[in-house]
Formats: sequence, C-alpha cells, structure tokens
Amino acid sequence: MKEFLIAIDGPAGAGKSTVAKLVAARLKINYLDTGAMYRAVALYLDSKNLSPSDDLSNALDNVEFRYEDGDLYLNGTKVTDQIRSAQAGKLASDFAVNPSVRSRLTDLQRKICRNGQFVVEGRDIGTVVLPHAQVKIFLTASFEERVKRRLKELQEKGVNLTFEEVANLIRLRDEQDSKRSFAPMKPAEDAIIIDTTGKSIEQVVEEICQIVSRRMDCESNRC
Ligand code: DC
Repeated sequence: MKEFLIAIDGPAGAGKSTVAKLVAARLKINYLDTGAMYRAVALYLDSKNLSPSDDLSNALDNVEFRYEDGDLYLNGTKVTDQIRSAQAGKLASDFAVNPSVRSRLTDLQRKICRNGQFVVEGRDIGTVVLPHAQVKIFLTASFEERVKRRLKELQEKGVNLTFEEVANLIRLRDEQDSKRSFAPMKPAEDAIIIDTTGKSIEQVVEEICQIVSRRMDCESNRC
C-alpha cells in the first residue's frame, strides 16, 4: 500500500494522544508519538548535564530509538513510563527550542514515516515534519478543559497537583511551544481545526475518520 500520513497537532491537553491512538487502531495503521521522542531526548540530555541553550549539534550522535511492543527504548533502556512525568514534559518543551534537537528528531521522524501509513502526533507535524501529509488535523480545546483533562490524567497516576499548578504548567508550555523561533506550534494553513471542548473522545475519533475516508475517496478518484 502506498504512503498515507495523518498529522495530528495541537497544544497540551487537547486530547491528541488518546484520539491519535484510537484513529490509528480504527484504520489499522501505525501510530507515532513525536512528543515521546522529545521527552526521551530531553531526559537523556538533562542526565548528561546539558542545557537547552548549549550547542547540542553533536549531543545526539549516539542516541538510538527503538519501538518494541508499544514501548519506547532509548539506547536500549525502556523509557515508556519515565517520560510521562510532568517534569519530563517541561524538559521536553525546554529542549524543543534547540534547533539541533529539532533537526535531528525531524529527520528521524521523516525516516520512520517514509513510505508508511501513520497517524503522527505532535506540534509541528503538518507544518514542518510532514507538510505533504494527506490529512492535517489541529486539535484544540478551551484552556479550562485542557487543564481539567491534564489534572485528571495526573491524579490517575497518583500525582497530586492543584488546578492552579497544572494551569500554570500548561500556560508556560503553550507559550514556549507556540513562541519558539524554530517550528513553533501552529495549525498548517491547510489543517482542519477541531475544537474538542464538550465532545466525547468517540465523537472526535469519528469526525477524524470521516475526514480521512473522504480524503481517501478523493485520492482514489484523483480529485
Ligand atoms: O505532546 P507532549 O506533551 O508529549 O510533548 C512534550 C513537548 O515536546 C511539547 O511541550 C513540545 C515538544 N514537542 C515538539 O516541540 N514538537 C513535537 N512534534 C512534539 C513535541
């Protein structure tokens, strides 16, 4: 089958991961979480006492990613759980401003997707990584709803933060991700923006699958 790429971008707490995984499962295609790659790399760089403002052009030369049975390994170590902390999210956003980190991960993401069929989730997928993706979705939700969702996720993991603390983390992340000089988070010009506020996960998945199906029909009819 030929290459078919679905980019799902959007801010923290918009529901990207849940929705992207379900869309990939429904369509029986692969799922790539690029945020997980930024998180893993950020933890690695931090463990080497490097900071986002350093020259990191060679810092990732010996970094190797591997996906196995849904788990992410960095240089042979399983990092699936470690990367999910609030601290890893903050570090990922900090290191994501560095052009060497972005360039290395962008190359890798393109290589993984080449000739494949993928739902790819991130911040700059439709604009920079895969500007030729057949379907581009930008998922968003009201600030309050995004904070509530993130708070619930953290509570389920036993992390007790207040609404205000989570709101501050998300505010900072939104600001940093959308204002950085390289590949800032923004909808691609041809992205379909879906506001998930008040919608169920199933509703959003259905909406995206219908967009994909129209696009596939269109591709086969060459419209
Ligand atoms: O989606 P996430 O919360 O796992 O992403 C963590 C951080 O990684 C996010 O705040 C910014 C960065 N990121 C990025 O800059 N570009 C991507 N394509 C994905 C994530």
